[in-house]
Amino acid sequence: MSFPEFRTKRLWLTKITSSDVESIFELFSSPDVVKYYDLEVFNERAQAEQLIRLFESRHESSLGIRWAIRPKETGQLIGTCGFNSWSEKMRNATIGYDLKPEYWNRGIATEALFEIIRAAFAGLLPCGALHRIQADTIPGNVASEKVLLKLGFKEEGTRRECAYLRGSYHDMKYFGLLRTDFKEK
Ligand SMILES: CC(C)(COP(=O)(O)OP(=O)(O)OC[C@H]1O[C@@H](n2cnc3c(N)ncnc32)[C@H](O)[C@@H]1OP(=O)(O)O)[C@@H](O)C(=O)NCCC(=O)NCCS
Repeated sequence: MSFPEFRTKRLWLTKITSSDVESIFELFSSPDVVKYYDLEVFNERAQAEQLIRLFESRHESSLGIRWAIRPKETGQLIGTCGFNSWSEKMRNATIGYDLKPEYWNRGIATEALFEIIRAAFAGLLPCGALHRIQADTIPGNVASEKVLLKLGFKEEGTRRECAYLRGSYHDMKYFGLLRTDFKEK
């Protein structure tokens, strides 16, 4: 199955391959990156290899898609973004994203997500044209909430103690973006 790739002003959004194993390992071995994830900090390269295989198999089975975020100057993977799942029938998808901390607060996640959202609403992905994109965040993940709000997502509510992470229950905040609310630049 062909893999849709995109470019933005500063970034390439491309397939994650086995040659990205070191960068994926570095990304997910940062406690700051996995703080709000249901993932333990990676301590072995095999975990990165396994995650890359999971991304590949999700794409091959048309269950979702994950791109590498690469600055054009280096081509090195500095983060990932994509749709963890989608429903072609219901025309919605759940978005996810992460970036190495040394690249935070430069608008990179917002730039990458804008492009994949544009593609999803335009029907350029294997799931067909979507009507709605959703995201969930754990309260406290202010950077993630800001990214969503900058893109036009609206906060839709809280699910109480919906997530069990590292030994305790956490609420989850729900955000949604409708195609009709999305403003192309
Ligand atoms: C979420 C994440 C991808 C954002 O990436 P990013 O490229 O830094 O995002 P952007 O620069 O586009 O936007 C971040 C915004 O949050 C703001 N911000 C960051 N930390 C903040 C804080 N502690 N308090 C208030 N605002 C904060 C930034 O100032 C920026 O807003 P601005 O553009 O109005 O100045 C990154 O923080 C990350 O990888 N986090 C760990 C993984 C994660 O939690 N993923 C999301 C799971 S739901």
